[in-house]
Amino acid sequence: MTVIPTWAQLVYLACAVCFILALKGLSGPKTARAGNLIGAAAAVVACAVPFFYKPDGLEHLHHVPLILGAIVIGTVGGVVGARRVQMTQMPQMVALFNGVGGGAAALVALLELHELVGAADLGADVDWFVLVATAFTIFVGSVSFAGSVVTFAKLQELMTSAPVTFPGLALGFGAGIVAAVGLSTQLALDPAMWVGIVLAVVGLAFGLLLVLPVGGADVPIVISLLNAFTGLTVAAGGYVLDNVVLLVAGTLVGASGTFLTLLMAKAMGRSVANILFGALKGGSTLGAGVASDRPVKSANPEDVAIMLAYADRVIIVPGYGLAVAQAQHTLRELVDVLSERGADVDYAIHPVAGRMPGHMNVLLAEAQVPYEQLKEMDEINGDFKDADVVLIVGANDVVNPAAKTTPGAPIYGMPILNADEAKQVVFMKRSMRPGFAGIENELLFEENTTLLFGDAKDSMGKLLNAVKAL
Ligand code: TAP
Repeated sequence: MTVIPTWAQLVYLACAVCFILALKGLSGPKTARAGNLIGAAAAVVACAVPFFYKPDGLEHLHHVPLILGAIVIGTVGGVVGARRVQMTQMPQMVALFNGVGGGAAALVALLELHELVGAADLGADVDWFVLVATAFTIFVGSVSFAGSVVTFAKLQELMTSAPVTFPGLALGFGAGIVAAVGLSTQLALDPAMWVGIVLAVVGLAFGLLLVLPVGGADVPIVISLLNAFTGLTVAAGGYVLDNVVLLVAGTLVGASGTFLTLLMAKAMGRSVANILFGALKGGSTLGAGVASDRPVKSANPEDVAIMLAYADRVIIVPGYGLAVAQAQHTLRELVDVLSERGADVDYAIHPVAGRMPGHMNVLLAEAQVPYEQLKEMDEINGDFKDADVVLIVGANDVVNPAAKTTPGAPIYGMPILNADEAKQVVFMKRSMRPGFAGIENELLFEENTTLLFGDAKDSMGKLLNAVKAL
């Protein structure tokens, strides 16, 4: 193993500090962009440092053209992918990047194992703890890779997003854990390449078994969990390679992924165990998803414009459909016009509105909505009872009272926005199809609810013109 010079260790330490500053920056909308840039710059520096370990050349590095080729392919893939991805496809993108990270860590650990086995064959005393960390990296990295590929396929609708279960799944799961512990012990006692390879194969199979039974609304949470796994894998890899920047970056990803998983599970009123293993007990995480044919009250943009134009207090509830329609800019214009007419308007942000954490905040920030108008659920839930109109734009599950009233519903227990308490409720959606959880929303059929059917961007444009004309 190449000895890392002191100056490089210090640069790595600086990069690690930058990663912490980046996370700090990412925790607020005003500083998120700077945080992102700091983190990216530190990652570039950390990747460049190994080329300069020795001042007199690159002899300490093997396969330099291959390394440079891989960096070019990774950079081009990352830049093109990030520029082309739609906001609504972001969770899939994260799943893919995360899977690649876990897979890369597992491959690096297999290569390191190759060196350790060689050293042991020559009679060197290999530290058992390094071997345990190597086994951990191989197994968990493989789990993360296979699991992330399945979550990507589910969200991209390349396969069903419903839970996939089959007889013997629980048994296979248990066998996977026993095999992983047995093979890791074997690797620590008597390092051999074949054990590492079998461990990687067991990890891939375990990753499939872990994610296949997870369905519907729970898939993005599993992405976050797998992200935490990848972080821990990279941290263990950092220990094996004696690389402080990998150790710190991996620990940060592991810790933040774990927090995010717990926060999302809490926001959906579910436990992580229930998300992972609920389907094994027969509980579905997805409703039937059929469109209702019950009668509802619908209106045209001009009618809704009158409701809004004469309201003193308006609350906007944005959801996934707003992102699909890309109606955020027109929505912001509408809110500006209503505010100019003297209405008090806020946006109510549910923690899991959309398909990823912070989805609505990013979307609305992109449309230059002032941060002060974005109100978190706990902050605004008491205001709904005083609202003259609640305008629900492409949202459904996050205002579905079934979360409070229907035990057994897939979203039962999820805290919701109290839109049902407002004097008038307006839904903007295209059809009577349900939201992500696939269940009917009783609020659509209430006496004081009006539906404005159509694509949110199209309807929003008409609504804006109608309000301006009043
Ligand atoms: P949903 O419940 O999925 O509802 C979205 C609504 O938008 C649907 O009713 C759909 O109805 C409508 N829509 C779709 N495209 C539209 C368009 N172009 N124009 C107008 N309307 C459109 O969304 P939500 O209320 O934001 O809830 C989020 C869901 O995702 C929750 O179930 C949540 O648990 C889940 N989830 C979120 C996260 C995170 S972190 N955000 C993570 C995991 C799971 P039509 O088809 O009739 O138009």
